[in-house]
Amino acid sequence: MSYDNSAQFYDSFDSKSNLQFYLDLVREVDGKVLELGVGTGRVLLEIARSGRDVVGVDNSVAMLREGKRKRRELYPGVSGRCRLVLADMLSLDLGERFGVVYSASGGVQGGSVDDLRGIFHSAARHLDEKGLFAFDVASPKSLRQTRAFPPERRELAGGRIVIRFVAQTYDEGTDTVSYDLIFKEHIPGRTSTVTVTESGDAAVVTREAIEDALDYAELDVRGLYGDFERGEYDEESANIVVVAAHRGS
Ligand SMILES: C[S@@+](CC[C@H](N)C(=O)[O-])C[C@H]1O[C@@H](n2cnc3c(N)ncnc32)[C@H](O)[C@@H]1O
Repeated sequence: MSYDNSAQFYDSFDSKSNLQFYLDLVREVDGKVLELGVGTGRVLLEIARSGRDVVGVDNSVAMLREGKRKRRELYPGVSGRCRLVLADMLSLDLGERFGVVYSASGGVQGGSVDDLRGIFHSAARHLDEKGLFAFDVASPKSLRQTRAFPPERRELAGGRIVIRFVAQTYDEGTDTVSYDLIFKEHIPGRTSTVTVTESGDAAVVTREAIEDALDYAELDVRGLYGDFERGEYDEESANIVVVAAHRGS
């Protein structure tokens, strides 16, 4: 998904429950923190607020623009600790290492499951010897279905009202889902609504594909969970949450 049209609404429709998981994780390890697929900085800016030096990478100009707008609103002491970089996580080489590398909310879940090996290799290249790599993706159970989500309504600053419609279509042949999002925005003083659309794909990522790609990148699984409270993963879990580290570290 490019997020070209909808980055402005991303945080307003946030219903994710992974923020505390990543805040707790970074406390386990010293050193700088890198997020792959940082988006609007929803998680990373909170980690910067907790006192850490952070770098966020994303290949969406629109998402990074939102992130930089939010960074400007932070105290200089916090924003100065936070770098946001336009780059593809698949071919990333920042030339530095981090205590924690993570990718929240399906940042690693692109259009092809084959990308996982390259992404995990990038993560390993940026990880301190004793560092932790973590990520979460939507589970096969969540993605292998076609469904329309109930419309959601948000009131934004300035009296703007936005309603979001989301449809998810599963393609068994390619084991991918496509998303279609429509945002209807009412701006005070106007009689008509503004319509914004967005679409994108995500590959189904299985536990086996994750374990294969981590092995390729010479990373060992330290924990594989079904939720952000580190509960056991099974076929009914909505998410796969993984913590990994360099092999033998
Ligand atoms: C679902 S959003 C998650 C954003 C953020 N991690 C969060 O938890 O709010 C996924 C993000 O990953 C980014 N992304 C996807 N593929 C990428 C790639 N190959 N390189 C860099 N960023 C990528 C997207 O642009 C998007 O901002």
